Amino acid sequence: MKILAIVGSPRLEGNTNYLVDQALDAAATSGAEIEKVVLSQYEVNPCLGHEDCASYDSCLQNDDAGWILDRFCGADGVILATPVYYYNVSAQMKAFIDRSYFLYRHNRKSRAGVVGIVVVAEIEGIEDTLHTLRQFVGESFVIEDDRLFVVRGYAGRPGEAKRNAELVREARNLGRQMVESLKRGG
Ligand SMILES: Cc1cc2nc3c(=O)[nH]c(=O)nc-3n(C[C@H](O)[C@H](O)[C@H](O)COP(=O)(O)O)c2cc1C
Repeated sequence: MKILAIVGSPRLEGNTNYLVDQALDAAATSGAEIEKVVLSQYEVNPCLGHEDCASYDSCLQNDDAGWILDRFCGADGVILATPVYYYNVSAQMKAFIDRSYFLYRHNRKSRAGVVGIVVVAEIEGIEDTLHTLRQFVGESFVIEDDRLFVVRGYAGRPGEAKRNAELVREARNLGRQMVESLKRGG
């Protein structure tokens, strides 16, 4: 059972990465194989918008989006995690979402049976960000509402999420619940 986290924060020591690490650690403790892809560590360019994806076997852009999307499709569970940047997902996450348009144009969805969302803001914008991610989840997965787990919280400087015991507990719960949900099957 594989849980893949796609992380849109470029701050490796930041709040989003910390919460994702907690979720993944809990998932691993519950028996899952885990993988984390921090988008800023790779080349995931913005979509070129030619709308002709269906004419090609692979995206015309030869960057890292192809293999990341393959893993996104093949994982049993996917965590999507982003800080709030100007009331929405980070640019790294938005580029990834836009590049998944290739899957959409090939009628391909992720096989994942469970999804987690982690969103961190300093002050406001979480609802708009969740709206974007929920729309993306609706297009990219075939899951029931009770297979979607969400953690959202407030933190600014790196380390703030780590000091928020309730938020950390929620992140660990998310990882554990994703694995339990997969074990229950259905
Ligand atoms: C470019 C940029 C835009 C941001 N926009 C918002 C925002 O709209 N609302 C908000 O509450 N925080 C905003 N923040 C603050 C981050 O969401 C906050 O610092 C968060 O903890 C960053 O997560 P990270 O530590 O995982 O990188 C912004 C930060 C940056 C760098």
